Amino acid sequence: MSESVASADLPPLPYRTPPQWAARWLDHRDELLVEQAHLEKKAAAAALSFLFRLPADPALQRGLSALAREELVHFERTLKLLGARGIPFGPLAPCPYAAELKRAVAATMPERLVDELLVSAIIEARSCERMQCLAQVLAPVDAELAGFYSELVAAEARHADLYQEAAATLVPPAVVALRWQRLGAHEARVLRGLPAVPRLLGGSGDDALGGGGGG
Ligand SMILES: [Fe+2]
Ligand SMILES: [Fe+2]
Repeated sequence: MSESVASADLPPLPYRTPPQWAARWLDHRDELLVEQAHLEKKAAAAALSFLFRLPADPALQRGLSALAREELVHFERTLKLLGARGIPFGPLAPCPYAAELKRAVAATMPERLVDELLVSAIIEARSCERMQCLAQVLAPVDAELAGFYSELVAAEARHADLYQEAAATLVPPAVVALRWQRLGAHEARVLRGLPAVPRLLGGSGDDALGGGGGG
């Protein structure tokens, strides 16, 4: 994004997914793909919700509208890949990651809306990181799926930037930086506490993987 919406310039998230994370789920590609379709649909819904709740700044509205469309394109793309592989798309128990992140959102406005935007930025950034991990591990064994994840990575990174920038339109930069720091620390605790399951945003099983990420 950009146009007239200012850059938020926030530091990277303190938690880093252990490099071994993706290799565990090579035999769970079907489940990951079904989850991906659900995640893309939820991401589109989140963008549409913000479109109605944020101030009517033209640059921001255009950015959010484009983001919502892009998530739907990702959703359709994932459905197509599922169809081509003969994998049925159906219900899947949601991973508690997003719900756990939202538990740290402020109770009062405007910080509540800022936090909700930053939670979306965190989800996009973590998805981006995890898809990069998956693409690397899949490259030698499933080039089509590796390419699929690789192509999504750049878009999800842009989405993270846009949500950070949107938050920066609501409160001063120091407030955004403080909320980002708190939510980032919370996200690290959430990921360390979640079970290691074949989900894009599941726990890493840090102990089993030998220490896990920083911060
Ligand atoms: Fe997406
Ligand atoms: Fe996204």
